[in-house]
Amino acid sequence: MFAGFKGVGWTFRLARGVGCGLARDGYAQGMAGHELDTNDPIELFGEWMREAERSEPNDANAVALATATADGVPSVRMVLMKQVDAKGFCFFTNAESEKGMQILENPRAAMCFHWKTLRRQVRVAGPVVELPAANVDEYFHSRSRRSQMGAAVSEQSRPLGSREELEARLARFSEEHPDVVPRPEYWRGYCMRAERMEFWMDGMDRLHDRFLFVAGADGWTMQRLYP
Ligand SMILES: Cc1cc2nc3c(=O)[nH]c(=O)nc-3n(C[C@H](O)[C@H](O)[C@H](O)COP(=O)(O)O)c2cc1C
Repeated sequence: MFAGFKGVGWTFRLARGVGCGLARDGYAQGMAGHELDTNDPIELFGEWMREAERSEPNDANAVALATATADGVPSVRMVLMKQVDAKGFCFFTNAESEKGMQILENPRAAMCFHWKTLRRQVRVAGPVVELPAANVDEYFHSRSRRSQMGAAVSEQSRPLGSREELEARLARFSEEHPDVVPRPEYWRGYCMRAERMEFWMDGMDRLHDRFLFVAGADGWTMQRLYP
């Protein structure tokens, strides 16, 4: 389930004139000036993600994740988006970190993907729910022993006296758990269900293309926006 992006969890079809980067008069190959021919932004996201996996030097699934306190003070950081399906855009983190605490008190988030080489951006926003423990266990134990231990010994986002303290903690933990690394209860998975998705493509002279999808009772509606 969490084996990566290729062929996992979702399918897509080519959005003619978007995924293909078809040129139009006055525009360079791959630049803006296109129409969308899909009503399914998740499918389109899958297409763009696959192209990003081919074009970006690393971590095409890296995404800026914005959360906020209950009274609306925002914060943002990068995470790795590990799965996209009907539940939403999923990532894993420490529930006691700053972002974890903010999701607890205000379970909404926004994400922004930026693929530099493709000159594309995707923004997504919606409510956040936790993944079932079984899914989190599966993902946690699919990672290397060192990654599991690193997650287990980190009191993410809280003050740390020194690098030595962290490394001593890791060494002690490794001795105490020579075989299976138990998933710490605070290591969780979260999924943000997409209510709004905006696809942005770079254009010449600031004439970028923007397509906003909004989820409604009858499915998605799509609207072109001024750049
Ligand atoms: C490319 C990249 C990917 C990252 N992926 C994750 C991730 O998947 N989960 C995570 O907890 N932190 C990840 N981090 C670290 C976070 O950006 C952040 O430092 C950490 O989660 C603490 O954030 P917080 O204090 O806002 O909760 C990543 C950082 C980078 C630069």
